[in-house]
Amino acid sequence: MEALDKLFYLLAATLFISGLKKLSSPATAVRGNRMAATGMLIAIVTTLGFGGIVSWPMVIAGVIVGSGIGLFLAKTVPMTSMPQMVALLNGFGGGASALVASAEYLRLFNAGETPLIDVGISIQLSVLIGALTFSGSVIAFGKLQEIVTGKAVTYPLQKFLNALLLLTLVGMAGWIVAGSAPIWAFYVVVGISLLLGILTVIPIGGADMPVVISLLNSYSGIAAAMTGFVINNHGLIISGALVGASGIILTNIMCKAMNRSLANVLFGAFGASPTGTIGAGGGDAGDLTVSEVTVEDAAMMLAYARSVIIVPGYGLAVAQAQHDVREMAELIEGNGGEVKYGIHPVAGRMPGHMNVLLAEANVPYPQLKDMDEINPAFPRADVALVIGANDVVNPGARDDANNPLYGMPILDVDKAHHVIVMKRSMNPGFAGVDNPLFYAQNTSMLFGSAKDSVVKLVEEIKQL
Ligand code: TAP
Repeated sequence: MEALDKLFYLLAATLFISGLKKLSSPATAVRGNRMAATGMLIAIVTTLGFGGIVSWPMVIAGVIVGSGIGLFLAKTVPMTSMPQMVALLNGFGGGASALVASAEYLRLFNAGETPLIDVGISIQLSVLIGALTFSGSVIAFGKLQEIVTGKAVTYPLQKFLNALLLLTLVGMAGWIVAGSAPIWAFYVVVGISLLLGILTVIPIGGADMPVVISLLNSYSGIAAAMTGFVINNHGLIISGALVGASGIILTNIMCKAMNRSLANVLFGAFGASPTGTIGAGGGDAGDLTVSEVTVEDAAMMLAYARSVIIVPGYGLAVAQAQHDVREMAELIEGNGGEVKYGIHPVAGRMPGHMNVLLAEANVPYPQLKDMDEINPAFPRADVALVIGANDVVNPGARDDANNPLYGMPILDVDKAHHVIVMKRSMNPGFAGVDNPLFYAQNTSMLFGSAKDSVVKLVEEIKQL
């Protein structure tokens, strides 16, 4: 039976890895997700059913109840709330790992047994990382859901106090592994881990939460892998290691695309106070002037353009105008124009946000172009249409060493013959930094909610 278990775990691991690979392209992502989910089902059934841990009716009931909750959340949670949902799922993963490892520790303790050193270390790491992930994820969820303040909460000696707690935690965990600690030491480890999860996430601004969530996702994987060592479960070790590794890779990609180090995200308190802006609040700034365009003129430009590059950003997701954007693109194409979409790796608020959004509206995948692929095309584009994007098209990040975004790779929309920026006001984006693009000679602003503006553009283009 054990050989059969291993064979099933191998099958599950193969499905996880192939599924992950397929997630890297929008065209294969749905299939990849299904493959990985099938792998997880096989791993669960193998562990619980064949492992003789619970009865088959319990396994089936658990799968039905769990799948039902998952299905309900998948159908009801809006796309813009995905980061907080992922935060909760990470938290549950970390919490589950900590609970399983705690149960094993208490079982051994009550039986008067001291675990072998490798199991002892795995138990402590699982409890520590799992509990920290749980409480940190709950705070991340609260910040994104605006239950907890989204501002970075800082106070004197914050880093010192956190370091002191971490040292105490490591000391206590080491004492427990050595085998001579009383039971209260274990509860102190659980308590400090939960506290550290809260204290390390509160100094991070709400807008940096997607990076934190990706990091916590990695932690939840590491905690799961550690629990796999504790209960000697190969499926858990493999899946945990995959989540741990992919989470840290994603965190790294997000930091690079924002031109920030992970240390800056975690300890920089970005979002504690707003960054100064030139023209925030509306109108012109100093001697800089802003040109506005009417819907009629914008529709004319788009209808007769031969090449249009649409750059979506967070505002498009907020406005939920993706279906109208696709309709508008089809009208432009109907008039003989070519339409492409320029996708910045951190446009929106979560990895792949724009890809998911446009895929939902059935925008053809080949039209979605990554930053490196689309940037050389801007100088040849008649119109770059920026819809609810701001930071990812800020030329200051490319040209101005004093700009806080300096060094962040951007979409070179300013190089197009004409740029139309659609947003509601002159307010800055996530980084709180003013955008010189709005004052450029070849830029026209089309103010209003992206949904209203695109719907009006569609109507106008139809009339032409
Ligand atoms: P932002 O720079 O945040 O700009 C979004 C713009 O959308 C705002 O300036 C806002 O202007 C506009 N907007 C909001 N609601 C709108 C609506 N209903 N209709 C029209 N416009 C609307 O977005 P971006 O360019 O996508 O850049 C993403 C930012 O998030 C980057 O700074 C990035 O570093 C950060 N970030 C991203 C991620 C990931 S993984 N994607 C993770 C963490 C942080 P108005 O208020 O004037 O309308």
